[in-house]
Amino acid sequence: MSKKTIIVSNRLPVTVNKNAEDGSLSFHPSSGGLATGLSTTYKQGGNLWIGWPGTYGHDDQEKVHIEKELKKDNMAPVYLTKEDVNKFYEGYSNKTLWPLFHYFTEYATYEKELWDSYIHVNELFLQAILEHAEPEDTIWVHDYQLLLLPGMLREALPDATIGFFNHIPFPSYEIFRLLPWREETLEGVLGADLIGFHTYDDMRHFLSSVNRLLGYDSSLGLVKVKNRLVSVDAFPMGIDYDKFEQAADSSKTKQKVIAYGDLLSKNKSILSIDRLDYSKGIKHRLLGFDKFLSKYPEYQGEVSLILLVVPSRDKVDQYQHLKEEIDTLVGKINGKYSRMNWSPIHYFYRSFSFDGLSALYKASDVGLVTPLRDGMNLVCKEYVASKTDQQGVLILSEMAGAAKELSEAILINPNDENQIVEALHNALTMPEEEQRSRMKEMQKKVRRYNVHRWVEIFMNQLDNIKEKQMAMNSR
Ligand code: G6P
Repeated sequence: MSKKTIIVSNRLPVTVNKNAEDGSLSFHPSSGGLATGLSTTYKQGGNLWIGWPGTYGHDDQEKVHIEKELKKDNMAPVYLTKEDVNKFYEGYSNKTLWPLFHYFTEYATYEKELWDSYIHVNELFLQAILEHAEPEDTIWVHDYQLLLLPGMLREALPDATIGFFNHIPFPSYEIFRLLPWREETLEGVLGADLIGFHTYDDMRHFLSSVNRLLGYDSSLGLVKVKNRLVSVDAFPMGIDYDKFEQAADSSKTKQKVIAYGDLLSKNKSILSIDRLDYSKGIKHRLLGFDKFLSKYPEYQGEVSLILLVVPSRDKVDQYQHLKEEIDTLVGKINGKYSRMNWSPIHYFYRSFSFDGLSALYKASDVGLVTPLRDGMNLVCKEYVASKTDQQGVLILSEMAGAAKELSEAILINPNDENQIVEALHNALTMPEEEQRSRMKEMQKKVRRYNVHRWVEIFMNQLDNIKEKQMAMNSR
């Protein structure tokens, strides 16, 4: 049998929904970056994507239906129970690892019960993979929900080619060492042949923890783990550039821009788009906008903030609190400045269609992307790709991985309210020519290092390290 490639991530690129009234199942493909970037890989031949379909509590008949539907597109499910979702997904993944890796140490909880569930679910993923994998297949594992899986796979399939990519920041040693299960976690990741991060800093932090906690030395990104060589490198993830560029000039987008009417045409508009998450700095952004309107009152009645918050992890306390805080802040700011014919903030707590997003990207004057910490951030790249007329200004937090590439954005420290205020003022007064030259430079980079290039570079490097290992072992 020929070798195949198996992609593994917590979520499949399709979410299954069960209708509460008639129990019918529906399947919703994701249009996210990872799904698009990897679509040519997993849909080919015998390749496969294994992950959680996003629901729980299915009976055997439903499982048969789900498996049949997923199989059509080369996918296979890992089923989680309600308890797994609670302890592994909402629990260890999003109450321990997510806050810790984003430097929100005060939000992180360390509970043995959650850790046990994390081990258990990583094992469920292992079992699902073993049902399909051959000993020499290539397996590419994604993200912080599955840090133990590469190690488990290495034991079960010693000759497999295993890649791992961490989509969120990897914290500095002083933060990572707070984790009670830090050594097991690093050993888990090191089961891979190639470990990828978005930035050089993340990679450096990982290597520093590996060295200080496990004593393994590294040189030029190569770690010697017992008798294996593991390669660690930075691969900044990109977007499907053509998709956003083409959509921006499509008739569907133009119709949407017209449908949004005054919101985009009459006033100046500042665009903010995120999943609901404390790491995104939404509160800081709102406070900055409030201060901007008070320091530059001539913009009252002239500029609006379009605030899109996409619901996420709403069973986790910190996310529920954040939602309430944002609701309150938006209410306060709108109450303070609104006029009969103008609102400072247009707030949407829901997902938007792709055409809707494209219209907002294309027609807004300023993209305001100010996370307190972000592995990469693809919203800013989507904004850049959608600016086909090169008019528009990107304000970007230094704390986003993307800031390393997009140096022509107005870069700010999101904790400094004054920097947000002045960046908004600079953006809204920036001459057209300067907007064009900055946008052109950013477009060159985002176009070139698109998500397809990202997949290609990672996969090539994975093959290379495997060849190096084989050459080393045959000596
Ligand atoms: C981040 C993570 C992904 C995750 C996504 C959505 O981008 O890196 O692994 O899938 O957020 O979060 P969710 O909890 O809904 O999967």
